[in-house]
Amino acid sequence: MNCDLLVVGSGFFGLTIAERAADSGLKVVVIDRRPHIGGNAYSEADPETGIEVHQYGAHLFHTSNPAVWEYVNRFTTFTNYVHKVYTTHNGVVYPMPVNLGTINQFFQAAYSPGEARELIAEQAGEFNVKDAKNFVEKGIALVGRPLYEAFFRDYTAKQWQTDPEDLSASIVSRLPVRYTYDNRYFNDKWEGLPTDGYTAWIERMADHPNIDVQLNVDFFDESQPFNKKAAVGQVPIVYTGPVDRYFDYSEGELSWRTLDFEKEVLPIGDFQGTPVMNYPDMDVPFTRIHEFRHFHPERESYPDDKTIIMREFSRFAERGDEPYYPVNTTADRDGLLKYRELQADEKDVYFGGRLGTYQYLDMHMAIGSALSMWNNKLDRR
Ligand code: FAD
Ligand code: NA
Repeated sequence: MNCDLLVVGSGFFGLTIAERAADSGLKVVVIDRRPHIGGNAYSEADPETGIEVHQYGAHLFHTSNPAVWEYVNRFTTFTNYVHKVYTTHNGVVYPMPVNLGTINQFFQAAYSPGEARELIAEQAGEFNVKDAKNFVEKGIALVGRPLYEAFFRDYTAKQWQTDPEDLSASIVSRLPVRYTYDNRYFNDKWEGLPTDGYTAWIERMADHPNIDVQLNVDFFDESQPFNKKAAVGQVPIVYTGPVDRYFDYSEGELSWRTLDFEKEVLPIGDFQGTPVMNYPDMDVPFTRIHEFRHFHPERESYPDDKTIIMREFSRFAERGDEPYYPVNTTADRDGLLKYRELQADEKDVYFGGRLGTYQYLDMHMAIGSALSMWNNKLDRR
């Protein structure tokens, strides 16, 4: 192998490892089976309108981790974008996550924070969190029946394509309700969007003389040089693809949810006046609509007579679909433990990222865990 380290997958986890290793003098090869780098954070300018579209769903950067914030700022600056979400229920728009504004609008009232708390506690008294037998009882125990039915029941049913009576109470530990008018979506210390877009940021991470990126290369394709059979044991490997695929699904397939996106260019300057509108009702088949121009209100180059929207649909993934969110059934957790045992026998192979660890990771978490893997394991080999 003509390199010191092979990284499989060019998402934020793989690129962070590659950048740290290259900076310390190692020759790194990064392969990705997709035709572009960046994993799910990849975005590109739509050819017709120039509007930046997040190909795999809207990506908002936020973190409270100072080491991650310092690190990402080496490659990009961030805008002052602050994420906010609205939801359309029964033909009326409400602010999300559920907050005092949502509650007062929903009950046509002017409750103070204390009064709203009392009301919701009373409505939530119908069930007890500890004894909740399924998602419905847990949801009602947390926020009371009226809010649960309006904002959580059908939205969750659409996300999981499952009747909430059949969903485990454990998929939810809390439902967000705020007793103030604060409708900021994230609570992190730092938040923003990369000024020149995600792809410019990602390309700067990979732009190092010690990094060789090879696209359209699948680790399991034995006709190309950097495949599993040829590389394991010959060179240290950081693997960020699906862990069950690595072991040829020997302990069963881990289950994922996936999303389908329908993109549309509209001949108007503004469709919904905000980046993300949720649709929590059953009579609408999608879960939300993204309108990408609103992620960058500062960009003067965007046209004022065209806009791009993307409807998002949620379903269980089959083999060949993009795996997005771990389902995490009991069988999945058992399978994952067996895969972890198998990993221990793989010489000099390090499993990371959301696919390699079967864990939902935000970008800052993927970057943070890659920095720790580099500092605590790889840099000390
Ligand atoms: P990935 O980005 O998935 O990269 C893995 C790479 O490995 C892929 O490029 C893949 O092609 C490659 N690969 C897999 N198998 C092989 C193989 N056999 N051979 C070669 N290459 C292979 N995070 C946020 O912080 N904010 C958000 O708003 C946000 N929104 C999200 C929305 C959606 C719909 C999803 C799915 C994720 C979102 N995330 C968000 C999370 C973010 O995408 C992840 O944190 C990030 O992708 C993690 O990077 P990763 O490197 O672990 O994985
Ligand atoms: Na998102």
